[in-house]
Amino acid sequence: MFFQYQSFDDAPGMVDSRAKLMAFRLPPLQGLSVLDVGCNEGYYCGVAARAGATRVVGLDGNRDFIAAAKRRFPNIEFLCRSWDSLPDEQFDLVLFTSGFHYLPTIEAAVAMLGRLARCLKKNGTLVLEVGVAPDAGSQLVEVVRPDGQVRYPTIELFISMLRQAGLVERYMGQSTSGDGIERQVFHCKRFKPSVLFVRGGHGVGKTRMAWAVSGHDYRRIVSVDEVAHRAFSALYPDEAFDPRILNGIDELSARVPEKAVALLVDHLFQAIETCVAETSNRSWDSRAVLVDGLSDVLEPHARVYRGLLERLRDGYLIWNATCQTPPDRDWWDTQGTYFDAYGYLLPLNDPIEAGFVTSAELSGNDIVITFVITTAHADAEPITAVVVVDGKIGGKVPVTSQGTNCSARFGLKTFGHADSTNASTPQFLAERKVHIAVEFSDHTASFLTTATAEKWLFSRTHRAA
Ligand SMILES: C[S@@+](CC[C@H](N)C(=O)[O-])C[C@H]1O[C@@H](n2cnc3c(N)ncnc32)[C@H](O)[C@@H]1O
Repeated sequence: MFFQYQSFDDAPGMVDSRAKLMAFRLPPLQGLSVLDVGCNEGYYCGVAARAGATRVVGLDGNRDFIAAAKRRFPNIEFLCRSWDSLPDEQFDLVLFTSGFHYLPTIEAAVAMLGRLARCLKKNGTLVLEVGVAPDAGSQLVEVVRPDGQVRYPTIELFISMLRQAGLVERYMGQSTSGDGIERQVFHCKRFKPSVLFVRGGHGVGKTRMAWAVSGHDYRRIVSVDEVAHRAFSALYPDEAFDPRILNGIDELSARVPEKAVALLVDHLFQAIETCVAETSNRSWDSRAVLVDGLSDVLEPHARVYRGLLERLRDGYLIWNATCQTPPDRDWWDTQGTYFDAYGYLLPLNDPIEAGFVTSAELSGNDIVITFVITTAHADAEPITAVVVVDGKIGGKVPVTSQGTNCSARFGLKTFGHADSTNASTPQFLAERKVHIAVEFSDHTASFLTTATAEKWLFSRTHRAA
Protein backbone atom coordinates (compact mmCIF):
# COMPACT_ATOMS: atom_id res chain seq x y z
CA MET A 1 0.00 0.00 0.00
CA PHE A 2 1.39 3.42 -0.93
CA PHE A 3 0.57 6.49 1.08
CA GLN A 4 2.06 9.92 0.72
CA TYR A 5 4.21 10.59 3.78
CA GLN A 6 6.72 13.24 2.69
CA SER A 7 5.53 16.48 1.10
CA PHE A 8 6.69 17.65 -2.30
CA ASP A 9 5.44 20.65 -4.28
CA ASP A 10 3.41 18.34 -6.51
CA ALA A 11 2.31 15.98 -3.76
CA PRO A 12 1.47 17.20 -0.26
CA GLY A 13 1.87 14.39 2.26
CA MET A 14 1.14 13.60 5.87
CA VAL A 15 3.99 15.71 7.24
CA ASP A 16 5.50 19.07 6.44
CA SER A 17 8.90 17.82 5.24
CA ARG A 18 10.26 21.33 4.85
CA ALA A 19 9.36 22.30 8.43
CA LYS A 20 11.09 19.13 9.60
CA LEU A 21 14.16 20.03 7.53
CA MET A 22 14.39 23.38 9.33
CA ALA A 23 14.16 21.61 12.68
CA PHE A 24 16.99 19.19 11.77
CA ARG A 25 19.42 22.16 11.68
CA LEU A 26 21.70 20.39 9.26
CA PRO A 27 25.27 21.65 8.86
CA PRO A 28 26.34 23.00 5.45
CA LEU A 29 26.15 19.97 3.18
CA GLN A 30 28.53 21.11 0.46
CA GLY A 31 31.19 18.44 -0.11
CA LEU A 32 29.77 15.98 2.44
CA SER A 33 28.81 12.35 2.00
CA VAL A 34 25.28 11.68 3.27
CA LEU A 35 23.33 8.54 4.14
CA ASP A 36 19.59 8.77 4.84
CA VAL A 37 18.27 5.69 6.66
CA GLY A 38 14.52 5.22 6.20
CA CYS A 39 14.61 7.81 3.43
CA ASN A 40 11.01 7.30 2.24
CA GLU A 41 10.63 9.09 -1.12
CA GLY A 42 14.05 10.70 -0.78
CA TYR A 43 13.07 14.26 0.18
CA TYR A 44 16.20 14.81 2.30
CA CYS A 45 18.43 13.00 -0.22
CA GLY A 46 17.23 15.53 -2.80
CA VAL A 47 17.98 18.39 -0.40
CA ALA A 48 21.50 17.04 0.17
CA ALA A 49 22.23 16.61 -3.52
CA ARG A 50 20.98 20.13 -4.32
CA ALA A 51 23.12 21.56 -1.50
CA GLY A 52 26.29 20.11 -3.02
CA ALA A 53 26.79 16.84 -1.12
CA THR A 54 29.30 14.80 -3.11
CA ARG A 55 27.78 11.41 -2.31
CA VAL A 56 24.19 10.73 -1.32
CA VAL A 57 22.69 7.33 -0.50
CA GLY A 58 19.09 6.74 0.54
CA LEU A 59 17.90 3.49 2.10
CA ASP A 60 14.36 2.31 2.77
CA GLY A 61 12.73 -1.08 3.24
CA ASN A 62 9.58 -0.23 1.28
CA ARG A 63 9.74 -1.03 -2.44
CA ASP A 64 7.07 1.51 -3.41
CA PHE A 65 8.80 4.37 -1.61
CA ILE A 66 12.14 3.49 -3.19
CA ALA A 67 10.56 3.27 -6.65
CA ALA A 68 9.02 6.73 -6.12
CA ALA A 69 12.36 8.08 -4.82
CA LYS A 70 14.16 6.81 -7.94
CA ARG A 71 11.58 8.49 -10.17
CA ARG A 72 11.97 11.78 -8.36
CA PHE A 73 15.76 11.71 -8.11
CA PRO A 74 17.14 9.50 -10.89
CA ASN A 75 20.75 10.53 -10.20
CA ILE A 76 20.75 9.55 -6.54
CA GLU A 77 21.61 6.06 -5.30
CA PHE A 78 18.72 4.39 -3.46
CA LEU A 79 18.90 1.01 -1.74
CA CYS A 80 15.79 -1.02 -1.09
CA ARG A 81 16.58 -3.00 2.01
CA SER A 82 15.97 -3.28 5.73
CA TRP A 83 17.89 -0.95 8.01
CA ASP A 84 19.09 -4.08 9.79
CA SER A 85 21.81 -4.07 7.18
CA LEU A 86 23.42 -0.70 6.51
CA PRO A 87 26.13 -0.01 3.91
CA ASP A 88 29.63 -0.99 4.95
CA GLU A 89 30.83 2.57 4.46
CA GLN A 90 31.43 5.71 6.52
CA PHE A 91 29.63 8.99 5.89
CA ASP A 92 30.04 12.58 7.07
CA LEU A 93 26.35 12.84 7.83
CA VAL A 94 23.82 10.12 8.61
CA LEU A 95 20.10 10.87 8.96
CA PHE A 96 17.69 8.70 10.89
CA THR A 97 14.47 10.65 11.24
CA SER A 98 11.03 9.48 12.32
CA GLY A 99 12.21 5.91 12.37
CA PHE A 100 13.18 5.21 15.96
CA HIS A 101 9.66 4.39 17.17
CA TYR A 102 9.45 1.40 14.80
CA LEU A 103 12.24 -0.40 16.68
CA PRO A 104 10.54 -3.15 18.67
CA THR A 105 12.75 -3.49 21.76
CA ILE A 106 15.47 -1.69 23.72
CA GLU A 107 18.01 -4.22 22.43
CA ALA A 108 16.95 -3.58 18.83
CA ALA A 109 17.19 0.18 19.36
CA VAL A 110 20.70 -0.03 20.88
CA ALA A 111 21.80 -2.32 18.04
CA MET A 112 20.35 0.14 15.49
CA LEU A 113 22.22 3.06 17.11
CA GLY A 114 25.40 0.95 17.04
CA ARG A 115 24.94 0.30 13.31
CA LEU A 116 24.32 4.00 12.66
CA ALA A 117 27.43 4.91 14.70
CA ARG A 118 29.53 2.53 12.60
CA CYS A 119 28.39 4.37 9.46
CA LEU A 120 29.90 7.62 10.79
CA LYS A 121 33.31 8.91 9.86
CA LYS A 122 35.44 9.82 12.88
CA ASN A 123 34.03 13.34 13.04
CA GLY A 124 30.76 12.49 11.33
CA THR A 125 27.37 13.61 12.63
CA LEU A 126 24.30 11.46 13.12
CA VAL A 127 21.06 13.45 12.96
CA LEU A 128 18.32 11.78 14.97
CA GLU A 129 14.75 12.95 15.05
CA VAL A 130 13.11 10.96 17.82
CA GLY A 131 9.84 11.02 19.69
CA VAL A 132 10.68 11.23 23.38
CA ALA A 133 8.00 10.11 25.84
CA PRO A 134 7.45 12.62 28.66
CA ASP A 135 7.22 9.83 31.26
CA ALA A 136 9.70 9.42 34.10
CA GLY A 137 12.03 6.47 34.36
CA SER A 138 13.91 4.44 31.84
CA GLN A 139 11.47 2.63 29.58
CA LEU A 140 9.89 2.33 26.16
CA VAL A 141 6.37 3.76 26.19
CA GLU A 142 3.97 2.01 23.79
CA VAL A 143 1.50 4.00 21.71
CA VAL A 144 -1.17 2.41 19.54
CA ARG A 145 -1.75 4.24 16.25
CA PRO A 146 -3.87 3.46 13.20
CA ASP A 147 -0.75 2.11 11.47
CA GLY A 148 0.10 -0.18 14.38
CA GLN A 149 1.92 -0.12 17.67
CA VAL A 150 5.00 2.09 18.09
CA ARG A 151 7.35 2.72 21.02
CA TYR A 152 8.95 5.89 22.35
CA PRO A 153 11.86 5.99 24.79
CA THR A 154 11.87 8.27 27.82
CA ILE A 155 14.76 10.74 27.80
CA GLU A 156 16.60 8.74 30.44
CA LEU A 157 16.42 5.57 28.38
CA PHE A 158 17.27 7.38 25.17
CA ILE A 159 20.47 8.93 26.57
CA SER A 160 21.53 5.63 28.10
CA MET A 161 20.98 3.88 24.74
CA LEU A 162 23.15 6.50 23.02
CA ARG A 163 25.91 5.85 25.55
CA GLN A 164 25.70 2.10 25.05
CA ALA A 165 26.12 2.68 21.34
CA GLY A 166 29.21 4.86 21.93
CA LEU A 167 27.51 8.14 21.00
CA VAL A 168 27.32 11.58 22.60
CA GLU A 169 24.62 14.05 21.74
CA ARG A 170 23.86 17.70 21.26
CA TYR A 171 20.22 18.65 21.69
CA MET A 172 19.06 20.81 18.76
CA GLY A 173 15.42 21.49 19.65
CA GLN A 174 11.93 20.32 18.81
CA SER A 175 10.63 19.07 15.51
CA THR A 176 7.05 18.69 14.34
CA SER A 177 5.00 16.16 16.25
CA GLY A 178 2.82 13.63 14.48
CA ASP A 179 0.93 11.62 17.04
CA GLY A 180 0.99 13.69 20.21
CA ILE A 181 4.48 12.63 21.23
CA GLU A 182 6.89 15.53 20.73
CA ARG A 183 9.72 14.85 18.28
CA GLN A 184 13.17 16.02 19.37
CA VAL A 185 16.26 16.55 17.25
CA PHE A 186 19.72 15.48 18.38
CA HIS A 187 23.05 15.68 16.60
CA CYS A 188 25.25 12.83 17.74
CA LYS A 189 28.91 12.04 17.35
CA ARG A 190 31.05 9.08 18.21
CA PHE A 191 32.41 9.54 21.72
CA LYS A 192 36.06 10.50 22.01
CA PRO A 193 37.89 10.10 25.29
CA SER A 194 39.58 13.26 26.61
CA VAL A 195 43.30 13.62 27.10
CA LEU A 196 44.31 16.60 29.18
CA PHE A 197 47.96 17.68 29.01
CA VAL A 198 49.18 19.45 32.11
CA ARG A 199 52.26 21.34 30.97
CA GLY A 200 54.49 24.00 32.40
CA GLY A 201 58.05 24.78 33.45
CA HIS A 202 60.05 22.91 36.04
CA GLY A 203 58.70 22.90 39.58
CA VAL A 204 55.55 24.92 38.97
CA GLY A 205 53.19 22.33 40.35
CA LYS A 206 52.15 20.28 37.33
CA THR A 207 51.92 17.07 39.29
CA ARG A 208 49.88 18.65 42.02
CA MET A 209 47.57 20.21 39.45
CA ALA A 210 47.17 16.85 37.67
CA TRP A 211 46.51 15.19 41.00
CA ALA A 212 43.81 17.71 41.90
CA VAL A 213 42.17 17.69 38.45
CA SER A 214 42.08 13.90 38.39
CA GLY A 215 40.02 13.92 41.57
CA HIS A 216 43.00 12.34 43.36
CA ASP A 217 42.85 9.29 41.13
CA TYR A 218 46.37 8.36 40.11
CA ARG A 219 45.01 5.71 37.74
CA ARG A 220 43.94 8.52 35.42
CA ILE A 221 47.38 10.09 35.26
CA VAL A 222 50.05 9.19 32.74
CA SER A 223 53.34 10.38 34.19
CA VAL A 224 55.78 11.46 31.49
CA ASP A 225 58.71 10.91 33.86
CA GLU A 226 57.70 7.33 34.52
CA VAL A 227 57.06 6.55 30.86
CA ALA A 228 60.39 8.11 29.84
CA HIS A 229 62.05 6.03 32.53
CA ARG A 230 60.47 2.87 31.06
CA ALA A 231 61.51 3.88 27.54
CA PHE A 232 65.07 4.38 28.76
CA SER A 233 65.17 1.04 30.58
CA ALA A 234 63.78 -0.78 27.51
CA LEU A 235 66.66 0.61 25.47
CA TYR A 236 69.36 0.16 28.15
CA PRO A 237 68.18 -2.78 30.24
CA ASP A 238 71.54 -3.20 31.97
CA GLU A 239 71.87 0.36 33.21
CA ALA A 240 70.54 1.56 36.51
CA PHE A 241 68.47 4.71 36.14
CA ASP A 242 67.53 6.89 39.06
CA PRO A 243 64.58 9.08 38.02
CA ARG A 244 65.21 11.35 41.02
CA ILE A 245 68.56 12.34 39.49
CA LEU A 246 68.11 11.83 35.78
CA ASN A 247 65.40 13.01 33.44
CA GLY A 248 64.41 10.35 30.91
CA ILE A 249 63.56 12.73 28.09
CA ASP A 250 66.82 14.67 28.43
CA GLU A 251 68.86 11.50 28.78
CA LEU A 252 67.34 9.85 25.70
CA SER A 253 67.61 13.07 23.69
CA ALA A 254 71.31 13.21 24.48
CA ARG A 255 72.04 9.54 23.77
CA VAL A 256 69.83 8.84 20.76
CA PRO A 257 68.99 12.30 19.42
CA GLU A 258 67.68 11.07 16.09
CA LYS A 259 65.09 8.71 17.50
CA ALA A 260 64.35 9.93 21.02
CA VAL A 261 61.22 11.90 20.12
CA ALA A 262 59.62 9.10 18.06
CA LEU A 263 60.44 6.59 20.78
CA LEU A 264 58.92 8.71 23.52
CA VAL A 265 55.84 9.50 21.44
CA ASP A 266 55.33 5.74 20.90
CA HIS A 267 55.69 4.91 24.58
CA LEU A 268 53.45 7.76 25.69
CA PHE A 269 50.79 6.96 23.11
CA GLN A 270 50.69 3.35 24.29
CA ALA A 271 50.53 4.46 27.92
CA ILE A 272 47.63 6.83 27.15
CA GLU A 273 45.71 4.13 25.28
CA THR A 274 46.20 1.68 28.14
CA CYS A 275 45.17 4.27 30.71
CA VAL A 276 42.01 5.16 28.73
CA ALA A 277 41.11 1.48 28.31
CA GLU A 278 41.52 0.88 32.04
CA THR A 279 39.52 3.92 33.11
CA SER A 280 36.81 3.02 30.57
CA ASN A 281 36.32 -0.28 32.32
CA ARG A 282 35.41 1.59 35.46
CA SER A 283 32.81 4.00 34.14
CA TRP A 284 31.76 5.92 31.07
CA ASP A 285 32.44 9.31 32.59
CA SER A 286 35.97 8.52 33.58
CA ARG A 287 37.14 8.16 30.02
CA ALA A 288 39.41 11.13 30.50
CA VAL A 289 43.06 10.91 31.40
CA LEU A 290 45.82 13.37 32.20
CA VAL A 291 49.35 13.51 30.89
CA ASP A 292 51.52 15.04 33.55
CA GLY A 293 55.06 16.31 33.14
CA LEU A 294 55.70 17.80 29.71
CA SER A 295 57.44 21.13 29.78
CA ASP A 296 55.89 23.82 27.61
CA VAL A 297 59.25 25.45 26.90
CA LEU A 298 62.00 22.84 26.59
CA GLU A 299 62.52 21.81 23.00
CA PRO A 300 62.57 18.00 23.25
CA HIS A 301 59.40 18.18 25.34
CA ALA A 302 57.70 20.46 22.83
CA ARG A 303 58.55 18.04 20.01
CA VAL A 304 57.22 15.08 21.96
CA TYR A 305 54.07 17.09 22.67
CA ARG A 306 53.56 17.96 18.99
CA GLY A 307 54.21 14.34 17.97
CA LEU A 308 51.66 13.11 20.48
CA LEU A 309 49.05 15.62 19.34
CA GLU A 310 49.47 14.28 15.83
CA ARG A 311 48.97 10.70 17.00
CA LEU A 312 46.01 11.50 19.23
CA ARG A 313 44.22 14.00 17.04
CA ASP A 314 41.74 11.68 15.36
CA GLY A 315 40.70 9.51 18.24
CA TYR A 316 40.80 11.82 21.24
CA LEU A 317 39.58 15.15 22.44
CA ILE A 318 42.69 16.99 23.51
CA TRP A 319 42.90 19.61 26.22
CA ASN A 320 45.80 21.70 27.35
CA ALA A 321 46.28 22.93 30.87
CA THR A 322 49.19 25.29 31.20
CA CYS A 323 50.60 25.57 34.66
CA GLN A 324 52.78 28.53 35.47
CA THR A 325 54.54 29.71 38.56
CA PRO A 326 51.93 30.91 41.03
CA PRO A 327 52.50 34.45 42.30
CA ASP A 328 53.12 33.02 45.73
CA ARG A 329 54.76 29.63 45.66
CA ASP A 330 53.45 28.86 49.12
CA TRP A 331 50.01 28.52 47.68
CA TRP A 332 50.73 24.97 46.70
CA ASP A 333 51.63 23.98 50.19
CA THR A 334 49.14 25.99 52.17
CA GLN A 335 46.08 25.43 50.03
CA GLY A 336 46.76 22.01 48.63
CA THR A 337 44.75 22.78 45.52
CA TYR A 338 45.49 24.29 42.16
CA PHE A 339 42.43 26.53 42.13
CA ASP A 340 44.42 29.69 42.49
CA ALA A 341 47.29 28.60 40.38
CA TYR A 342 48.42 30.74 37.55
CA GLY A 343 47.03 28.18 35.17
CA TYR A 344 44.29 27.83 32.68
CA LEU A 345 42.64 25.19 30.59
CA LEU A 346 41.88 25.39 26.92
CA PRO A 347 40.42 22.69 24.76
CA LEU A 348 42.78 22.24 21.85
CA ASN A 349 41.15 20.54 18.97
CA ASP A 350 37.47 20.71 19.66
CA PRO A 351 36.23 23.29 19.52
CA ILE A 352 38.91 25.92 20.14
CA GLU A 353 42.62 26.00 19.65
CA ALA A 354 43.70 29.24 21.20
CA GLY A 355 42.38 32.49 22.54
CA PHE A 356 44.51 35.61 22.49
CA VAL A 357 43.75 39.22 23.27
CA THR A 358 43.83 41.73 20.44
CA SER A 359 42.68 44.78 22.35
CA ALA A 360 41.53 45.96 25.74
CA GLU A 361 39.75 49.31 25.74
CA LEU A 362 38.07 51.44 28.31
CA SER A 363 34.42 52.12 27.52
CA GLY A 364 32.53 54.06 30.20
CA ASN A 365 32.79 51.97 33.32
CA ASP A 366 33.69 48.85 31.39
CA ILE A 367 36.75 47.29 29.94
CA VAL A 368 36.03 45.70 26.60
CA ILE A 369 38.42 42.93 25.78
CA THR A 370 38.50 41.59 22.28
CA PHE A 371 40.11 38.28 21.58
CA VAL A 372 40.39 35.80 18.80
CA ILE A 373 39.47 32.17 18.99
CA THR A 374 40.96 29.84 16.46
CA THR A 375 38.13 27.45 15.94
CA ALA A 376 38.42 23.94 14.72
CA HIS A 377 34.68 23.87 14.15
CA ALA A 378 32.66 26.71 12.79
CA ASP A 379 29.80 26.00 15.17
CA ALA A 380 31.76 26.37 18.39
CA GLU A 381 29.64 28.27 20.84
CA PRO A 382 31.61 30.10 23.48
CA ILE A 383 29.37 31.50 26.18
CA THR A 384 31.59 32.68 28.97
CA ALA A 385 35.02 34.21 29.17
CA VAL A 386 37.17 34.21 32.24
CA VAL A 387 39.93 36.78 32.43
CA VAL A 388 42.90 35.91 34.57
CA VAL A 389 45.33 38.68 35.44
CA ASP A 390 48.52 37.62 37.15
CA GLY A 391 46.92 34.53 38.48
CA LYS A 392 43.82 36.26 39.79
CA ILE A 393 40.47 35.74 38.22
CA GLY A 394 39.20 39.15 37.17
CA GLY A 395 35.72 38.27 36.06
CA LYS A 396 33.50 35.86 34.29
CA VAL A 397 31.12 37.24 31.67
CA PRO A 398 29.10 36.21 28.66
CA VAL A 399 30.93 36.42 25.37
CA THR A 400 29.53 37.92 22.24
CA SER A 401 31.10 36.54 19.15
CA GLN A 402 31.23 37.32 15.49
CA GLY A 403 32.91 34.41 13.83
CA THR A 404 36.14 33.82 15.67
CA ASN A 405 36.30 37.38 17.02
CA CYS A 406 34.91 37.45 20.51
CA SER A 407 34.57 40.22 22.97
CA ALA A 408 33.82 40.32 26.63
CA ARG A 409 32.78 43.34 28.67
CA PHE A 410 34.00 43.49 32.26
CA GLY A 411 32.96 46.01 34.89
CA LEU A 412 35.97 47.94 36.21
CA LYS A 413 35.25 46.76 39.72
CA THR A 414 35.88 43.17 38.75
CA PHE A 415 39.58 44.00 38.74
CA GLY A 416 39.43 45.91 41.97
CA HIS A 417 41.27 43.27 43.91
CA ALA A 418 44.30 43.34 41.63
CA ASP A 419 47.42 44.51 43.34
CA SER A 420 47.98 47.80 41.54
CA THR A 421 46.64 51.34 41.73
CA ASN A 422 45.78 51.38 38.06
CA ALA A 423 44.60 47.84 38.07
CA SER A 424 41.37 48.79 36.37
CA THR A 425 42.78 50.26 33.23
CA PRO A 426 43.42 48.66 29.90
CA GLN A 427 47.06 49.73 30.20
CA PHE A 428 47.33 47.52 33.21
CA LEU A 429 45.88 44.66 31.22
CA ALA A 430 48.26 45.30 28.38
CA GLU A 431 51.29 45.42 30.65
CA ARG A 432 50.44 42.30 32.55
CA LYS A 433 49.77 38.97 31.03
CA VAL A 434 46.08 38.52 30.41
CA HIS A 435 44.80 35.04 29.97
CA ILE A 436 41.44 34.32 28.49
CA ALA A 437 39.80 31.05 29.16
CA VAL A 438 36.57 30.33 27.38
CA GLU A 439 33.67 28.22 28.52
CA PHE A 440 31.18 26.70 26.18
CA SER A 441 27.47 26.31 26.05
CA ASP A 442 25.75 23.17 27.24
CA HIS A 443 25.47 22.14 23.64
CA THR A 444 29.16 22.07 23.11
CA ALA A 445 29.82 20.63 26.49
CA SER A 446 27.43 17.81 25.88
CA PHE A 447 29.67 16.59 23.11
CA LEU A 448 32.28 16.01 25.73
CA THR A 449 29.75 14.58 28.14
CA THR A 450 28.71 16.82 30.96
CA ALA A 451 30.85 15.15 33.55
CA THR A 452 34.03 15.48 31.57
CA ALA A 453 33.64 19.04 30.44
CA GLU A 454 31.85 20.75 33.24
CA LYS A 455 32.47 18.94 36.48
CA TRP A 456 35.90 17.76 35.62
CA LEU A 457 37.40 20.66 33.80
CA PHE A 458 35.50 23.90 33.94
CA SER A 459 33.98 24.17 37.34
CA ARG A 460 37.27 23.40 39.02
CA THR A 461 39.37 25.71 36.92
CA HIS A 462 37.24 28.75 37.12
CA ARG A 463 36.35 28.83 40.75
CA ALA A 464 37.14 32.34 41.82
CA ALA A 465 39.54 32.97 44.66
C1 LIG B 1 7.80 7.79 9.15
S1 LIG B 1 8.75 7.47 7.74
C2 LIG B 1 10.05 8.65 7.86
C3 LIG B 1 10.67 8.97 6.54
C4 LIG B 1 11.81 9.99 6.55
N1 LIG B 1 12.90 9.56 7.34
C5 LIG B 1 11.32 11.33 7.03
O1 LIG B 1 11.65 11.75 8.14
O2 LIG B 1 10.61 11.99 6.26
C6 LIG B 1 9.55 5.94 8.14
C7 LIG B 1 10.23 5.29 6.97
O3 LIG B 1 10.99 4.19 7.46
C8 LIG B 1 10.84 3.10 6.59
N2 LIG B 1 11.06 1.87 7.35
C9 LIG B 1 10.31 1.38 8.37
N3 LIG B 1 10.85 0.23 8.83
C10 LIG B 1 11.96 0.00 8.10
C11 LIG B 1 12.96 -1.00 8.12
N4 LIG B 1 12.93 -1.99 8.99
N5 LIG B 1 13.97 -0.92 7.23
C12 LIG B 1 14.05 0.10 6.34
N6 LIG B 1 13.14 1.09 6.29
C13 LIG B 1 12.09 1.05 7.15
C14 LIG B 1 9.44 3.24 6.06
O4 LIG B 1 9.29 2.56 4.84
C15 LIG B 1 9.29 4.73 5.93
O5 LIG B 1 9.64 5.20 4.67
